[in-house]
Amino acid sequence: MQELIDRIRSWEAKSQVLEPNQDLRNKELTSVSNYANTFLNALPETKTFEFSEEMSDRFHITGQPHSIVEILDIYKREVAEKGINAASGGHLGYIPGGGIFASALGDFLADVTNEYAGIFYASPGAVAVETALIDWIKSLFSYPSDAVGNLASGGSIANLIALAAARDKYQIKGEKVEKSVVYLSAQTHHCVTKALRIIGLEDVVLRTLPIDDHSRIQIEALSGAIAKDRSLGLNPFLVIGSAGTTDTGAVDPLFEIGTICKEENLWFHVDAAYGGFFILAESVRHLFRGIELSDSLVVDPHKGLFLPYGIGAVIVKDREAVFHSNRAGADYMQDAYREDLPVNPSDLGPELTKHFRGMRMWLPLQLYGTEPFAACLEEKLDLTRYIRLKLADLGFNLGPEPDLSVTYFWMDRGDQSDSFNRHLLKLIHEEGSAYFSSTLIEGKFVIRSAILSFRTRIISVDKAIELISRCLDKTQEHFEKGS
Ligand SMILES: Cc1ncc(COP(=O)(O)O)c(C=O)c1O
Repeated sequence: MQELIDRIRSWEAKSQVLEPNQDLRNKELTSVSNYANTFLNALPETKTFEFSEEMSDRFHITGQPHSIVEILDIYKREVAEKGINAASGGHLGYIPGGGIFASALGDFLADVTNEYAGIFYASPGAVAVETALIDWIKSLFSYPSDAVGNLASGGSIANLIALAAARDKYQIKGEKVEKSVVYLSAQTHHCVTKALRIIGLEDVVLRTLPIDDHSRIQIEALSGAIAKDRSLGLNPFLVIGSAGTTDTGAVDPLFEIGTICKEENLWFHVDAAYGGFFILAESVRHLFRGIELSDSLVVDPHKGLFLPYGIGAVIVKDREAVFHSNRAGADYMQDAYREDLPVNPSDLGPELTKHFRGMRMWLPLQLYGTEPFAACLEEKLDLTRYIRLKLADLGFNLGPEPDLSVTYFWMDRGDQSDSFNRHLLKLIHEEGSAYFSSTLIEGKFVIRSAILSFRTRIISVDKAIELISRCLDKTQEHFEKGS
C-alpha cells in the first residue's frame, strides 16, 4: 500500500506543472496579453496577406517543455504572420468575420471554468446562457418560442443539423431518397450539397432554380418545377433559400418561397449564415420579410456578429424532427438525462461534449448591447456602396447592386478579360496590403469584395482601393508590353 501511495505522490509531483500557481498564471497571462496588444496595435499597418507554402518545422512536438516566450515567438512568426490575416480590416475576401476581443475574454472564462455545455445537468448556467442566445435569435427572426436551436461550430454544421431534421421530418430514407427533390439555386452555398451527402441524401434529385440578374431565385420557376416533379412521380420535400449569397450578396424572395412551401407542404430552409445578422440593420430589414415562414434557419455569429471563427447557429421549428436525428442516450449518463430538465444541446446536434461557445457571443452582447453591432452592419452596407463607386471611378465593371455587402467587379478587356483580371488579382495578393478573393460568375472570372469585418473602416477601403489602383497600372503595363 505504502509503495502505491509513494508512486502516486511521485506522479503528482511530476505532473504538478499542469496546475501553475497564481504567480506563474499571471506571468503567462501577461506574456499572452502583451503579445495580443502588440498584435492588435500593429494591425492597421500589418499586411493582410502573406502566403508561403513552407510548413514550419517549429511546430514539432518534441516532448520537451518550451518557454512561453519561445512558444509565442513561434505563434507570431509561423501562425499569425502567415496566410490571410483574418483579424485585419483589409480582409475583404471570402466572408470575413473579424474576431472581437470581448469574445476572447468569453472563451477564456469558458475554458478556465471548463463548462460542459452539452447537457443541462452538467452546467445549467452554460446551457441557460446558450438558450438565452438561441431565444434572442428566435426573436430576431420571429420564430415561435417552442422552436429549438443549437450553437454549432459554424455554418456548415448548423446547415447539416437543419437538413437532417428536414430529412427526418419527411422520412427520406431507403428507396424514397432517389425520388425526393431538393430545390436550390446555383448560388446556394456548397456546404448545403456537402451536408446532403453526409446525411445520406447524395442521391436526391437536385433542382437548380433559375436566378434573376441580382442572383435571386426566380420565384415563378418554383411552383412550376414542383408541379412538374410531382407529375413525374417524384417527391418534392425541401427548398433552400439564401439570405445573403456568398458570391453575390443576394437575398432570395423569402416571403414568396415560404408561401409556396406552406401551400405545397415542403420544408423551407434558409441559409442566412452570412447575411442573417443584417436583420439588425434597419435599412435592409425589409429584405428578410418572410424568413419567419421558414422551417429552419442558419445564421453565423462568426460572420455577421464579428465573432472569432467557431460559432454558427441553427434554429428549427419542429423540435421532434431535430430530436429524431440527434437524441441518443447511454446507461453511463443516466444521472444526467432527466425528463423534467430543460432540453440538452446534445439532443439538438451531433456533439455530446460541447465547448461552451455561447460565452464568446453572450459576453460581447451583454458588454456592449446590440446597438454597436447594428451600426457596424449599416457601416458595412454603406462601405459596399462606397467601394463600388470607387471601383467604378477606376473603370471597373460592377456586378449588380448587391442586397448586402458582397459585390464583384472586373475590368473588361474583351477576350483577355479573364487573364487580365487574374493577373491583377495575383499582383494584389503579392502585395498583400488588402485581400480580395475571386469567383466565377457565369464562367467569367471576377474579383469579389466581401465587406464584413468589424475592422473594415473607410480608411481600410481607401487603402484597398489604392492597392487595386497600383496593381491595375502594373497589369495594364504588363498587358501592353505583351501585345
Ligand atoms: C451562405 C453561407 N452558408 C454557409 C457557409 C458555411 O459556413 P462555415 O464556413 O461557417 O461552415 C458560408 C461560409 O461562408 C456561407 O457564406
